Amino acid sequence: MIDDSLKKDYLYKIKLINKHNKLYYEKNNSKVSDYDYDQLKKEIIEIESKYPEIVVKESPSLNVGFKPSKNFKKISHKVPMLSLSNAFNEEDLKNFEKKIINFLSLNKNFEIEYSTEPKIDGISASIKYEKGVFIKGLSRGDGIQGEDITENLKTISDIPKTINLNDFPKSIDIRGEVFISKRDFKKMDKKFANPRNAASGSLRQKDPKETKKIPLKFIAYTFGYIEEQKSKTQSDFLLNLKKWGFKTSKFNKKIKGIKNLVQYHKKFEEIRFDLDYDVDGIVYKVNNFDLQKRLGSVTNAPRWAIAHKFSANSSISKILKIEIQVGRTGALTPVAKIKPVNIGGVVVSNATLHNEDEIQRKDIRLGDIVKVERAGDVIPHVLSVNKGEREKNSKKYIFPKLCPSCGSKTVKDFNETTKKFDAVRRCLNENFKCEKIAMEGLKHFVSKDALNIDGFGKKIVEKFWDLKFIRFPHDIFDLDLEKIKKIDGWGDLSVSNLNYAIEKSKEIKLERFIFSLGIRHIGQENAKLIARHLKNIDNFYKLSNEKNIENLSNIDGIGDTQIQSIKLFFSNKNNQNILKKLKEKMKILDFINNKIEGSLKNKTFMFTGKLKEISRAEAKSLVEENSGKIISNVNSKLNYLVIGDKPTSKKIKKAQELNIRIISQDELMKMLNQAG
Ligand code: IVH
Repeated sequence: MIDDSLKKDYLYKIKLINKHNKLYYEKNNSKVSDYDYDQLKKEIIEIESKYPEIVVKESPSLNVGFKPSKNFKKISHKVPMLSLSNAFNEEDLKNFEKKIINFLSLNKNFEIEYSTEPKIDGISASIKYEKGVFIKGLSRGDGIQGEDITENLKTISDIPKTINLNDFPKSIDIRGEVFISKRDFKKMDKKFANPRNAASGSLRQKDPKETKKIPLKFIAYTFGYIEEQKSKTQSDFLLNLKKWGFKTSKFNKKIKGIKNLVQYHKKFEEIRFDLDYDVDGIVYKVNNFDLQKRLGSVTNAPRWAIAHKFSANSSISKILKIEIQVGRTGALTPVAKIKPVNIGGVVVSNATLHNEDEIQRKDIRLGDIVKVERAGDVIPHVLSVNKGEREKNSKKYIFPKLCPSCGSKTVKDFNETTKKFDAVRRCLNENFKCEKIAMEGLKHFVSKDALNIDGFGKKIVEKFWDLKFIRFPHDIFDLDLEKIKKIDGWGDLSVSNLNYAIEKSKEIKLERFIFSLGIRHIGQENAKLIARHLKNIDNFYKLSNEKNIENLSNIDGIGDTQIQSIKLFFSNKNNQNILKKLKEKMKILDFINNKIEGSLKNKTFMFTGKLKEISRAEAKSLVEENSGKIISNVNSKLNYLVIGDKPTSKKIKKAQELNIRIISQDELMKMLNQAG
């Protein structure tokens, strides 16, 4: 017979553990240590083993594993929410504009007009209106899928719930920034470090009633999907936003010329602290929508916009030590350990020295008094040395010539195009034995853009490496969970959470998988190009035959550098073995071409000579948008050779020999128009 007080105690414990589960899994906010949680679970199990008839269906013993957070439903953005590339100085801006001018093949003196807008440091949101009614509100998420935070966004009074104006598009996503004013932040509980975190936390409250209590604001600045865009420019669109009832920034302004942008940036930087909200830079957007459309975007960011960050805060400190870190690609990065200083509210004790050349150029030495700068989310770096305060007996810093991790030879690559040696020295990892490189490779493997294993951060990789739990990527799928549970700070809950994340990561898109391998020169963009070309994992494995690697040179964007790097990767037996093991453990999904199939499908093109009005890069993206393919050799696989001004006669001759169709740019444009 179970007495009442025992039953009461048991039920109380069940209720408590489920409350902790809910807090942990649904609110990301555990109120109990792993130890206490495990203790509680143990007590429940003990009671149950003594009195099996007591078990209730809510017992953790009946609920194996835990469900993931389903706080908010994930919904795909109709148009991805991109991020912005950053610029820190005039040089970066000049490069940004030069690229645009080249891409659009504009006259060098063409004056681009920009819509300039303060970059509010908050949380972006996308609000869908159908026939003037607020239907759905999403967070940015990973840019492709956002979280459904409709109810929370509906509590923000700056966001209109209905818009009854004739010129408001029938179907549109309005995008902008949710934030908390500095004044309101000061009045809030001191639960958050800064207004941005507070806005993010408030917006993601499970209960919209909680969100409503927080004075969130919203400033609109762009659109995602739009049924019909009547504005011709971004600045016009911003005016429309205001007319439709959205708040827009009063600092939005049209500016032409880099010099003027820099001047405005400088002026703004002085007043930024007087504003009632955090601004971490100014966004410059090519104002003309037609030009924006032509420019398009790279993986994550548009070519037509950039965020010019405000310069960082800086402080003076002393170099105590110079450490050489070895990166995933073998790059030796010198890092100065400095006397801890507070820079803009953050204690900094490391500052990067970038590379060997940088140390030489600035003549940075041990014991030097240096100026350290920290800009937002960028790693702090040593800006300058105060040579006047240098001790008399200080010696020039000698950069190590051998890898500090494995002792093997290091080299600086010679760049054939620039005819210069690289500034970065690299470990050659001659026998593929460099531990640091392997460990950094693992960090990359589990990282956000690769396998994206939630909770498997850099520190955990280091810990598991030190404990010899992991040496190769596939070891991650063979981790002994019981052993992990015994490590300080780990318990049932965190282990099952980790296990869930690892299991989830086994199913992966081909392009992500290729990227995760960390092959030098194969970043996200190139991994995608290769995945699109190879389509499935079997074809990727076939690259172990060197002949198949050569075929990759048909992909526009994959050059000799990438080919050599892929060859080197596959020539290593270790890598081949890793691939084999990963294939056994993972489910690698075929490449899915999200693009609607255009009428140039299965057609290959090559260009020779200068094109009129558009650049090669733009012509290439036009062909690709319509599912055509660009190849870089005249061979039997080529369908069309497009000739511009002053074409290479050799190419034309070869095309004629192979009976390949030779067309003019106008003919290509006609094909594209038909396609569109
Ligand atoms: S435009 C493709 N405009 O900055 C254009 N973004 O790093 C992308 N942001 O996620 C957004 N003010 O949270 C744009 N006037 C502005 C902005 C702005 C702040 C934020 C936004 C975005 C991030 C991009």
